[in-house]
Amino acid sequence: MIRSIVRGFGASLPKRVLTNREMETLVDTTDEWIVQRTGIRQRYIAGDDETTASLGEAAARAALDNAGLTPADIDMIILATSTPDNTFPATAVNIQQRLGIHHGAAFDLQAVCSGFVFAMTTADLYIRGGMARRVLVIGSETFSRLLDWNDRTTCVLFGDGAGAVILEAGEGNGTSDDRGILTAHLRSDGAHKDKLYVDGGPSTTGTVGHLKMEGREVFKHAVGMITDVVVAAFDATKLSIDDLDWLVPHQANIRILEGSARKLSIPMEKVVVTVDQHGNTSAASIPLALATAASDGRIKKGDLVLLEAMGGGFTWGSVLLRW
Ligand code: ACO
Repeated sequence: MIRSIVRGFGASLPKRVLTNREMETLVDTTDEWIVQRTGIRQRYIAGDDETTASLGEAAARAALDNAGLTPADIDMIILATSTPDNTFPATAVNIQQRLGIHHGAAFDLQAVCSGFVFAMTTADLYIRGGMARRVLVIGSETFSRLLDWNDRTTCVLFGDGAGAVILEAGEGNGTSDDRGILTAHLRSDGAHKDKLYVDGGPSTTGTVGHLKMEGREVFKHAVGMITDVVVAAFDATKLSIDDLDWLVPHQANIRILEGSARKLSIPMEKVVVTVDQHGNTSAASIPLALATAASDGRIKKGDLVLLEAMGGGFTWGSVLLRW
């Protein structure tokens, strides 16, 4: 059977680092409060010359280099983002143009913080359905542009950045020993749409708007939703949590990461944590964390890796793959 195998990975961060200490000069907060409640120590903020497309392009080029491929080898681009350069065309098309690709298809996918998990799942279906052989899956965000910089309850949480992987069709024998994506599980429930949202848009206010969040409500649902899709992944493959080498979660908040790991009996040594360095970069956080742990040698060929995310919508999902 056809499997979607990770052939390469890459990441890109804005030039500017914004530390918690600097944040203290912008809003009424402290480094101690931010670290204790979220685990975040710094985040990267896009400059005037940096956008979702430029960061996504840089991550894509890094992934191509890592894979030993050229843009001509790619036949589909799926960009997970909630912060497109323009309302339309899709920022994926902008990245396609920057890479000099004129063939295949490119489109954006919007599932907020779960976007990368949704995009990996979508790419896997295109590959297994025979419509694409090599898909560039990118998560790129400039959440700093959606933030109300006077609202200390949200502006301390988010950062900008991009990560990318290249998924390539390969042969598998249909067992959980195969390399590539083994199973994926996606969920959403719009009943929660007002708990984390942006109060603007082309069809309503005609403005971009600002991010609004009921933090405690998000927190309350996060661990249960994450557990739901993690358990679904293991049930579907008959693998056990003990088989897992690395959990690569969406990086929202260290307390959510620790709470989920505890509930699932996954030791924190197996959890890739980058929220301290990047903050919450929404759809970019998982590919940034993957690139971090794969380039420093933690994630190795053959490792069992579980991606999971929960975010605005609410949306949530998991992808279990063998690296
Ligand atoms: N600095 C200092 N004090 C602050 C700050 C800040 N940046 N923000 C809020 N406070 C204050 C509040 O005003 C409040 O003060 P009060 O008691 O005098 O009213 C106090 O801190 C406690 O506020 P809470 O909102 O109750 O703080 P809580 O412990 O719930 O932590 C947080 C807030 C970190 C947002 C938490 O609710 C959380 O982690 N929620 C999950 C949300 C999340 O991670 N969202 C990311 C996006 S969603 C996703 O990616 C899954």
